[in-house]
Amino acid sequence: MKRDPARFVPRTAPPPPVAGTAAALEGFATAAGMVRALRPVEPVYCLYPPLLRRAARRFVEGFPGRVLYAVKANPQPEVLHELYAAGIRDFDTASLPEIALVSGLFPDAVCHFMAPAKLTGTAETAFRRHGVRSFVVDHDSELDRLLAIADPDTLIHVRMKAFDPRSVYELSSKFGATEDVCRRLLRRVADAGLRPGLAFNVGSLCRHPDAYGDAIARAAALAREAGVEIATLDVGGGFPTPYPGLAPEPLEDFFTAIRRAAAVAPLPADCTLICEPGRALVAEGQSLVVQVILIKDGLVFLNDGIYGSLKELQISNQSVVYPPVVIRPDGPPPAAATRPCEISGPTCDSLDLLPFRIDLPVDLCEGDWIEFGLAGAYSNAMTTAFNGLRPDRWVRIDGDLPPGLRAADRSAVGRPDESEGPR
Ligand SMILES: Cc1ncc(COP(=O)(O)O)c(C=O)c1O
Repeated sequence: MKRDPARFVPRTAPPPPVAGTAAALEGFATAAGMVRALRPVEPVYCLYPPLLRRAARRFVEGFPGRVLYAVKANPQPEVLHELYAAGIRDFDTASLPEIALVSGLFPDAVCHFMAPAKLTGTAETAFRRHGVRSFVVDHDSELDRLLAIADPDTLIHVRMKAFDPRSVYELSSKFGATEDVCRRLLRRVADAGLRPGLAFNVGSLCRHPDAYGDAIARAAALAREAGVEIATLDVGGGFPTPYPGLAPEPLEDFFTAIRRAAAVAPLPADCTLICEPGRALVAEGQSLVVQVILIKDGLVFLNDGIYGSLKELQISNQSVVYPPVVIRPDGPPPAAATRPCEISGPTCDSLDLLPFRIDLPVDLCEGDWIEFGLAGAYSNAMTTAFNGLRPDRWVRIDGDLPPGLRAADRSAVGRPDESEGPR
């Protein structure tokens, strides 16, 4: 049969994925499949792109204002690309390297330099070289330095204290000015002809929406008392992740509380709300696969620990817990019965131990792998190269959900030592 030239469409290969995006990573249907194929001896970060995009869309569609991603939570370029693809265009950056990273990847992104104590000269470099026009201060000295370089487009947020004691981490003892100082700083910004804003951070892993509502009411009152019309109110990060046993209110309740409080406050009509979530945007979309390298008198040595990806398990007072599932490609499936295991990292340091036990199968073996879910925030971001070991292997998982998000996991994962363990 003759080919009809009018209907002939030449076959072209799809364009190759852009380097540095999740699409360019080696992809697998499941983490277990990845382990079968690679048998990795170093820790592996597994990205779940649809989960990263889902988290970003929840914020972009639900938060009543602009959403800044706090890059410190996870600066991996593949992660940034997924958030950008889902609509994030503003980034809370804490240093020049973070600003350079974001501006290099996304020329149309807006960087906000939200560290209250900046390295000498870095605010000026951010302002002149990267065009940054949004900053935060909580002290006269930092404000002096900004006033020396700023122009009338510059937005200067004054950070006030706003800790909610029910949050897991407080972010208001070291940072945030007292109300007196806030009023003075706000007036200085307004008198200099710049754009004043207020910022607060209720702490990381905040569990109660009313923490934001209370702080918004106080911020509005403070601005009124200072006689300053604020251009923005930054409600910070702190939005929760449902780690096992933590049971925070749904994110949407936080958005509703913020919307209501902003309406009641009231804020000036043209005041923009902004937020700076880190954890809540990235925790769910990344897991960590580690290997059991040694079991010595019951102590389980992993190939990753507190100097690597597990730092937050050490410092969070048992609030951050990564739900585990054992992957054993050969031999019988892991036992359903579990025992609480003491966990060590691989370094030659006696401190490299988790401060709590994790329930793992009674027949856990050397050579088994463990996938930890909900491991996308403050994991790879906080690794060191101590002992020459810095995890940095990345893959993409396309056909599964990570531990902690599978339907069966939801009903079964508990606190450490209370867990029914991996299935
Ligand atoms: C200024 C600032 N913004 C945002 C965040 C992100 O917080 P979270 O990851 O709890 O959302 C932090 C965390 O330390 C922070 O210090």
